Amino acid sequence: MTSHDASFGLWLTVSLADVLGDHGLLERIRMEVYRQKLVVLRTGAGADRAALVQLAAYLGQVVPFFDPKFQDADFPGIYLTHDRPDDSARTAKGDRMWHADYQYLADPASITLLAPYSVPEQRQGATFIDMSAALASLPDSLRPRPDTVAVHGMGRFLARTGGAVAGTPPSEVRFPARMRHPVTGSEFLYVSEAFTLHLEGAESPNLRDLLEATGQLDESLTHPNVREVPYEAGDIFVWDNRALVHRSLMATGDRGVASYRITIRDEAPLPG
Ligand SMILES: [Fe+2]
Repeated sequence: MTSHDASFGLWLTVSLADVLGDHGLLERIRMEVYRQKLVVLRTGAGADRAALVQLAAYLGQVVPFFDPKFQDADFPGIYLTHDRPDDSARTAKGDRMWHADYQYLADPASITLLAPYSVPEQRQGATFIDMSAALASLPDSLRPRPDTVAVHGMGRFLARTGGAVAGTPPSEVRFPARMRHPVTGSEFLYVSEAFTLHLEGAESPNLRDLLEATGQLDESLTHPNVREVPYEAGDIFVWDNRALVHRSLMATGDRGVASYRITIRDEAPLPG
């Protein structure tokens, strides 16, 4: 097994079977997801769905996507994604808006696991913004006060992507716009292009200005906060879905990436 620490995230070259057979390594991965925010297991092998679910279950409780149409037939905890460039599908468009998974729920996902198993030759990958670093780099004029509330829901996402899907949660949820991570204690900004509808509270900054300053409105993906991480088939991405927002790269060819995604809740809910 080899590993290296990059400026963002931790890469481990390792088989999934070796991970699952090594409790110490499993525990290291679990902690590094919080510490580094992103762990990439470079397995170089096809994704074994049962093994992916086993890894996810070590990290917390697997939460199936609410629309069964996107669930794997054999493993309902696995969400099937296929990001095609010309696809008008809801998921393909939605994946190109910055977001945290399930940010519109009262109990959003803590961790996301993504295993791209079919990766075309063109530039493909995920992009991330570290919202702890983004908060730290904000000018004082845009820094939300501790009592600023961010209201999240699916309204903007549905307007962009063309309508509701089965089981779409209708309500809005409220969280502090900035808060301390329940595991690491690091302060981060909890707003996203896709799911944050507005900010509430005296002297709260303009949401659009805040999204722009963090890099979430830069369609060129060249904002200094944006970290692009290419996919290789066989990669397993595991990230902190609270301190990071993410979106897929805009695919440029005629084939997209097909992935298995598992969303996970750990035992540390967000402070409400
Ligand atoms: Fe996502």
